[in-house]
Amino acid sequence: MKFLYLALFTILLSSFPVMAGEDKTPPKAAVVSAHHLATKAGMDILAKGGNAYDAAVAVSAMLGVVEPLSSGIGGGGFWLLYEAKTKGYNVIDARETAPLATKADMYLDEKGEVIKGISTKGALAAGIPGLPAAFVAINKKYGSMKLGDVLTPAVKVAREGFAVDERYINGAHYKRDMFLENEEAASIFLDNGNVPKDGWILKQRDLANTLESIAIKGLKGFYDGDIAAKMVNDVVKHGGIWSLGDLRDYHVIERNPVIMNYRGARIIAPPLPSSGGLVLSNIFNILSGFDLTALSSANRKHVIIEAMRHAYYNRALYMGDSDFVDVPVDYIISKEMSDKQRKKIDMDKALPSALLSLSFDNLPKGTDTTHFAVIDKWGNRVAVTQSINFWGGSGFVPKGTGVLLNNEMDDFTIKVGVENGYGLQGTKANEIAPNKRMLSSMTPTFVENERGVLIVGTPGGSRIISMNLLGILNYIDGKSAKGIVAAARYHHQFMPDEVVYEQGAFNAMEVKALEAKGHTLKKQSSSGYGNMQVILWDYTTGEVTTASDPRGVGAGRVY
Ligand code: DON
Repeated sequence: MKFLYLALFTILLSSFPVMAGEDKTPPKAAVVSAHHLATKAGMDILAKGGNAYDAAVAVSAMLGVVEPLSSGIGGGGFWLLYEAKTKGYNVIDARETAPLATKADMYLDEKGEVIKGISTKGALAAGIPGLPAAFVAINKKYGSMKLGDVLTPAVKVAREGFAVDERYINGAHYKRDMFLENEEAASIFLDNGNVPKDGWILKQRDLANTLESIAIKGLKGFYDGDIAAKMVNDVVKHGGIWSLGDLRDYHVIERNPVIMNYRGARIIAPPLPSSGGLVLSNIFNILSGFDLTALSSANRKHVIIEAMRHAYYNRALYMGDSDFVDVPVDYIISKEMSDKQRKKIDMDKALPSALLSLSFDNLPKGTDTTHFAVIDKWGNRVAVTQSINFWGGSGFVPKGTGVLLNNEMDDFTIKVGVENGYGLQGTKANEIAPNKRMLSSMTPTFVENERGVLIVGTPGGSRIISMNLLGILNYIDGKSAKGIVAAARYHHQFMPDEVVYEQGAFNAMEVKALEAKGHTLKKQSSSGYGNMQVILWDYTTGEVTTASDPRGVGAGRVY
């Protein structure tokens, strides 16, 4: 009964417009990203009078240069935008597309079994990149500077080089064998075939030329002409299926974000083909029926884990590119759905995921992607999560382009019932089809409430959404930006049926209580997971602060 009242209360609350932030402007501008050179590139653009969108394109391009194993113009991403002038939100979907020649069973052998590795390695693993088209679209619609000017810092660092850090070295170590299979990639990312040492200067001259080509010719500088021909030729030569038409047809899609309300906060996140907005919305709807503050800490965590389980189950079951398949979006975020799920939550017992569907094993180890955010003095905001999927993507660089291609094709459901690189399962909704966009978990997010504005996001594959969830809950509970990024994390994604957690996420009593309820707990290595970047504009203190995940080497700066 208590749950019912609470649910009713939340629905009533959420039907009132949230006015937070709408007529305020921030006292400071800020940039936060996973690399100090990318943050600097954004700050320099702001200092030149550029707006948040100009700075964001500069940061995005620079991340592709200085964190080349995590994201770049060979990949894609989701851009969440807020425009102060119109008070409007927008999502630029720059997700990769499947080439036209794809087939649903393209990664299966004659017996219908998955051929190991080909959806993650080499030219056949790459979707058609979206990031260059995002640069052009954002610059055209929102930018105040010339595209060439915002790309210049990235061109310069690609050409002149920069000293690699431990993070790069770890990535190169992890992917050395893969790079050695592609001469072009090995010659760029390794030092004579070896893992580079700290301080080694990584120069990417071809990448500099490709970025310059985009700077000068816009879309045509990447999706047509010389660079396009080089990419298609080499992809095809190495067993891939790209065509010039695939590149010419690529376009970003503007989409309305998913907007949800929870405990007086308005939360804005991307829609399909990112699953982030729908999964978060589903989780918050479930949580709305509980008074989390009245629960013991173990019960609170139990409820959050169960909410994750149910929402990730819906992800697996229903979600895919809604331009290609019918996804019951309204149902997924309906009260009817969350009421049904909430009824299945037993305070004393974990629900075995097997009762919801099949089971499968193991999550991957080293993976990467990147997230950054910008807010400018006018109050414009940009939050971007961008990726080439796993560390080093497909490991394939088309000769003479410097573009490390993604392996996002693995985010499709390769075969129903078979897990992808993140242990995620899916149905026909996320089956491969020509031109379709693979389901993503990338979730750049805004949160607005009485306290202020939070811009939050992180890499981490399937765990992105649960990390953001915990970040948002911590923000609503009053944690500082630093506290939000540092907080220990836990995650459940329906299958595998286990709770992965970082040191410190549960105390001994909580571990005992959760295990007694039937949860399988799996502690992560001491380095933890994620690389969260946060900007927090606090109305009460009047301050803008940034925080970069202590697990990474990122930097935030306030201007
Ligand atoms: O789109 C997705 O969900 C994944 N390709 C994101 C990959 C990722 O975050 C890897 N990071 N650790």
